[in-house]
Amino acid sequence: MIPKPASACPTTALHVLKATVSSSTPVVPVTGAKKGIGFAPAHNLCQQFLGDVVLTAQELDIDDLQSICALPDFLRQEYRGLDVLVNNAGVAFKSTWISDHENKLFGTRNVCMEFLPLIKPQGRVVNVSSRKSFVALEDCSPELQEKFRRDAITEDELVGLMNKSVEDTKNGVHRKEGWPDTAYGVTKTGVTVLSQIHAGKLNEQRRGDKILLNACCPGWVRTDVAGPEAPRTLEEGAETPVYLALLPSDAKEPHGHFVFEKKVKQW
Ligand SMILES: NC(=O)c1ccc[n+]([C@@H]2O[C@H](COP(=O)([O-])OP(=O)(O)OC[C@H]3O[C@@H](n4cnc5c(N)ncnc54)[C@H](OP(=O)(O)O)[C@@H]3O)[C@@H](O)[C@H]2O)c1
Repeated sequence: MIPKPASACPTTALHVLKATVSSSTPVVPVTGAKKGIGFAPAHNLCQQFLGDVVLTAQELDIDDLQSICALPDFLRQEYRGLDVLVNNAGVAFKSTWISDHENKLFGTRNVCMEFLPLIKPQGRVVNVSSRKSFVALEDCSPELQEKFRRDAITEDELVGLMNKSVEDTKNGVHRKEGWPDTAYGVTKTGVTVLSQIHAGKLNEQRRGDKILLNACCPGWVRTDVAGPEAPRTLEEGAETPVYLALLPSDAKEPHGHFVFEKKVKQW
């Protein structure tokens, strides 16, 4: 049984489970935790994580920076930061590129921008991406593949590419410009590459802090969006995100990788 919320922060979007709020209590926020894959690791972490679990729902809209700000403020005040971030909120398999040309990388990136500066030493960051990021990459033109695979790709370059994907689609030229027919896949390509970039930044800026940041795929999981045919249960889908969230304090790897079924998959 998932515990009842013990306290709530000023916005109704957030619920703190197992709360004994104090600045020394470890804390893990899980975005998009009302249902689906976000709910399962939150439940699991309540049993395994020695601290508080903060669940957010869509009232904390990751696409809207204003809406996100309340949570970092709350974590700063009540916990002096955060120990683990499960960056899960997002959409799955919504549609093809044509009917949904939005690129949802930016919501995941908004969460990273607001939360990463608050992550404590030995913190863990889990960005929920998808194996579809690999499928989309392979369906990109060789030129785009080279850009997405380049070690030195910067965050600005990645944002530029993601914006271009949207523009090219609006202008009806996305195939000609080398993009595959999947907004979801390209979004997740962005999440996987963004994770590599942020891990690199942590290496440069906070090397001694031993923070481990990874992207992962939960597998094809029976959620509202993926549907009843998906083979995995929510519990099974939670396994890799929870594994990455709870990497032991002396772990050095994985970091900056894409992880599926607890194994690193080379980009
Ligand atoms: N299911 C799969 O097979 C599968 C496979 C690979 C990766 N994934 C990834 O796993 C994550 C969770 O997917 P899921 O299958 O669990 O989908 P889901 O059941 O639809 O759950 C998605 C969650 O994210 C929240 N959300 C969506 N957009 C949001 C936004 N802009 N701001 C804040 N919260 C938002 C939703 O909130 P509301 O309920 O309020 O809308 C919901 O709680 C996604 O990142 C998805 O891409 C899923």
